[in-house]
Amino acid sequence: MLANSRRCINLMECFVNPHIDPDDIPTNHSANEHFQAVVNRAVSRRGFLIKTGTSAATVAFLSSGLSACATGDAPAQGPLLGFSAVASYTEDGLSIAPGYTATPFVPWGTPLFSSGAGSTWSGNGSEDAAAQLRQVGDNHDGIHFFPIDGKANDEGVLVMNHEYSTTNGGNYTFLFGATPAPANTPDRVNKAINAWGCSVIHIKRTAGQWAVVLDSTYNRRITSATPMLLTGPAAGHAKLQTSADPTGTVVLGTINNCGNGYTPWGTYLTCEENWNNNFGTTVDPSVDGRTDSQKRYGLSAGATGYGWEVVHSRFDYKKEPNESNRFGWIVEIDPFDPTSTPKKRTALGRIKHENAAYAIAADGRVVVYTGDDQVNDYIYKFVSNGKYIAGNLLNNRNLLDSGTLYVAKFNDGAATGDFMGTGEWLPLTTRNPALSGFASLADILIDTRLAADALGATKMDRPEWVTVHPQTNEVYVTLTNNSGRTTTDDANPRTANRYGQIIRWREAGKDAAALTFEWDLFVLAGNPTIAQANALNNGSANVNANNTFNSPDGLGFDASGRLWIQTDGNYSNVGNFANQGNNQMLAADPITKEIRRFFVGPKECEVTGLTFTPDQKTMFVNVQHPGEGGNSHWPDGGTALPRSATVIITKNDGGVIGT
Ligand code: FEO
Ligand code: CA
Ligand code: CA
Ligand code: CA
Repeated sequence: MLANSRRCINLMECFVNPHIDPDDIPTNHSANEHFQAVVNRAVSRRGFLIKTGTSAATVAFLSSGLSACATGDAPAQGPLLGFSAVASYTEDGLSIAPGYTATPFVPWGTPLFSSGAGSTWSGNGSEDAAAQLRQVGDNHDGIHFFPIDGKANDEGVLVMNHEYSTTNGGNYTFLFGATPAPANTPDRVNKAINAWGCSVIHIKRTAGQWAVVLDSTYNRRITSATPMLLTGPAAGHAKLQTSADPTGTVVLGTINNCGNGYTPWGTYLTCEENWNNNFGTTVDPSVDGRTDSQKRYGLSAGATGYGWEVVHSRFDYKKEPNESNRFGWIVEIDPFDPTSTPKKRTALGRIKHENAAYAIAADGRVVVYTGDDQVNDYIYKFVSNGKYIAGNLLNNRNLLDSGTLYVAKFNDGAATGDFMGTGEWLPLTTRNPALSGFASLADILIDTRLAADALGATKMDRPEWVTVHPQTNEVYVTLTNNSGRTTTDDANPRTANRYGQIIRWREAGKDAAALTFEWDLFVLAGNPTIAQANALNNGSANVNANNTFNSPDGLGFDASGRLWIQTDGNYSNVGNFANQGNNQMLAADPITKEIRRFFVGPKECEVTGLTFTPDQKTMFVNVQHPGEGGNSHWPDGGTALPRSATVIITKNDGGVIGT
């Protein structure tokens, strides 16, 4: 519920506020106007119901128009969603809304340089790590387009993450061709190391066609062996020191780069997610030698599927116990300086980072929201000590090195069962008495999860991407699913949550640095096309037979405030997931909460990562792990092995995407 203790600013505020307390009637319009707005709101709320079958029933859901309220102004007129929805799709291609074109681009193995990259994709059987180093990497994920000044919509640097390589039963599925190969030969591991990380790709549009600018000085591969610096409060700490790096400040590589972020000063943020999967041991692998911290972060007790610990002892936790502490960070990259050293910003905490989304606080400090993608893990925000100054790179470039990290607690609020409530940000600092067991801020940051456990933060249904509304600063987070949930709260209201939900909040005073907030659920994903024992599994009222989906993951606003929702879920199209088809991308109107399916990817893929040219007329999204179960030949077709790729989306009339 919104607080009753303040006056409405305008009629839209009356509309969204549940109160009718005469003391709260605004001064800038009459009591009658206020009353009518409240009545209108009550009528509108009939649209926000939980369905018990395929028709709406009686359970009130979601406050209406949270976004509009936070603007302080009436919402912009005109529909945000101008396209016709596409049906669910199960074929091995791309399905896009009528009037739009979707074109594969820069698939894994695309040369970035004219020499040394191989004349063709080196995936089929090749173990050539050197060639891979000069090509686009594997399993595309987070992505951002940085325009080149003066050529903003036609030329820029496309930076993307390469999260991992698909494996099956401990063998790489595609990295060395169709025949499953043991993971642990040096050539194979070193190719994998070079297939992961990030690509920085200079691209240019000529006569309507985007192409890589081969041999551009901007082109760069950042891999799981690229030297980078640990910076911020934990840099140099004893727990970050290794035999190869007694300074505790220089790390080789970044791994499991999932979602991304970017900063207003023009840098890219890559987020280390499932890095734990790369740490195991060859030393008495039947003996679990992990510390409590290593268990909490999920390192393998014995062998890993990727086999890196066999070839490089730094990935063996029994041989190099601190190496894993040097992963799980957010890494800042200057996309326009290929000689720059990426920086692991320890002030933002060490978790399984999904992505990062920034907002600027009322006083100019930088806020970065992040989620920890694990069942029953947490949502965080970092608030910098320094203030952002537009155009002042010297001021801005190390803002992410000092500040305060907080973890979120979502309270049910005045009522339970209404899928809304209040929240608070709990500080992860040495001044917090609940963290007296930690010797220093560095200790807290290195074991962020353990510190957050000690504070009693709210255990969420796998936090995935965070995004901030470009006008209202409201924050939206995908909670993808949690099959193991046994106890519920208003924010995570379903046991055995198989469909996921999107939660959103508005910081107190609309200030990103605030320590309290109000939240509600934007959507409960579900499937209303089948019989559901639990009515909540039909989804909220903005889910219907035409847009049903599961496992929201990628998430981002465009400049107009359209919310783009991408899925990485069950694509079986049967049983609980009947009629949902392949993984997909939908667009939502944050005011009306309408959701429409815009795009569907090929078989067994996930759709992830999104970015636009500044004019919002070219959209780049990524299709990751097509055919992970062996049933796709996208994008090359025929009998080719599948490979991850970017997809360029344009509107055939040259218009803004989504209109
Ligand atoms: Fe890499 Fe949580 O997705
Ligand atoms: Ca509640
Ligand atoms: Ca993801
Ligand atoms: Ca996936």
